[in-house]
Amino acid sequence: MAQSRLSTAIEDGLLPLPDGTIALMRPSAIYDVSPLPRDAVQIVHSFYPDVAAWQGAGFPTTQALTKVSVAIIVVPRSKALARAMVAEACLHADFIVVDGQKTDGVDSLFKSCRKELGNLPSITKGHGRIFWFAATDVFASWAIPEPAKGPHGYFTTAGVFSDGAIDAGSALLADALPPKLPTRMANFGAGWGYLAEPILARAGVKSLDLIEAEALSLTCARLNVTDPRATFQWADATALGGASFDGIVMNPPFHTGRATDPSLGRTFIQAAARSLASHGKLWMVANRHLPYEDTLTECFRNVETIGGNGVFKLFHANRPKR
Ligand SMILES: C[S@@+](CC[C@H](N)C(=O)[O-])C[C@H]1O[C@@H](n2cnc3c(N)ncnc32)[C@H](O)[C@@H]1O
Repeated sequence: MAQSRLSTAIEDGLLPLPDGTIALMRPSAIYDVSPLPRDAVQIVHSFYPDVAAWQGAGFPTTQALTKVSVAIIVVPRSKALARAMVAEACLHADFIVVDGQKTDGVDSLFKSCRKELGNLPSITKGHGRIFWFAATDVFASWAIPEPAKGPHGYFTTAGVFSDGAIDAGSALLADALPPKLPTRMANFGAGWGYLAEPILARAGVKSLDLIEAEALSLTCARLNVTDPRATFQWADATALGGASFDGIVMNPPFHTGRATDPSLGRTFIQAAARSLASHGKLWMVANRHLPYEDTLTECFRNVETIGGNGVFKLFHANRPKR
C-alpha cells in the first residue's frame, strides 16, 4: 500500500502532533491510522457502516466531538459540512489537521483557511493534500448549528443527500406508489425522510420504519416526519434481514465517495428480499444506467417495470426467493 499523507507528514517529522487524545473526524473505514498512537485515537463519525467498522476494529467511536488535543478532519464531499467540521474542531481541539482528496475539495478548503491564517504547512500527495494549524476562532462563522428548513420546506443540513432539493427519482417513485400499501412498511436509505409522507398517505399502512445510515439525515427525518406510525433506525440497511416487513420502498445509494458503485444498490436489493415476509413487496427507483435487473430477478419471483423517464426507471418486485 502506498504511504498515506498522514504517515508521510508524521514520519518525515513535518507534522508535530501534540500529546493527548486525537479525534479522527469522518474517516472512511480504510483510513490509515497506523502512524497514530492507537490508544490515543477516538473516531467521530455519523455514518453507521463506518462506525460499525471502526468499532469492529476496537476503536472508541462517538458522534459528537468533545475536548481533545488534536482533531484530524477527513474532508467530506460536502463543502458546507467540511467548513462546519473545521469550526467544530477549532471549538474542541487545540491543534487541527485537515486531510482530503482534491476531488473532495481539499484545495479550496486550504485556500479558504490560508485566506484567514496566511501561509500554512502542507503536503500534497496521492491526489490530495494534508495541512495543519493551531485552533483559532476565525472559522466560528462556518458552524452550522441546527438543521434548517430548505427551499422545499423540509429540514435538511449540510452533508445529507439532496439537501437543496427533493430528489427527482424519489419524487417519481412517490407518484408511482399504489393507493394502498401493505401494513408494515420500511423505507431503506430514508435520508431526511422525503418518502415517508407519500408512504404514510397511502391506505393500509400501520407502521413505517425509516432506516438510514447517516445520523445527520436521521436527525432531519425526525423533524420532518412526526406521524406516530413512523420509527427511526440508525442502521446499515444492507446488514438487515429477518422478514420483518410487508413492503419496502427505496431509492438506494449508488456512490462510494464520488465513484458510481452499483454493488451498493445490489446489496440493498438483497437485503430488501431478506427483510420482506414471503408475501412482501418492493417498490424501487434507480438511475436508468444502473444494472439492477439481474439482481432483482435473482432475489424476487416477480419483477416488473412500472414506469420511469429518460433518467430513472421504477421497479415493483414481489415474492422474495428464499
Ligand atoms: C439516494 S439517497 C435517498 C434518500 C431519501 N430516500 C430521499 O428520497 O431523499 C440514499 C440514502 O441511503 C443512505 N445510505 C447509504 N448507505 C446506507 C446503508 N448502508 N444503510 C442505510 N442507508 C444508507 C444515504 O445516506 C442516503 O440518505
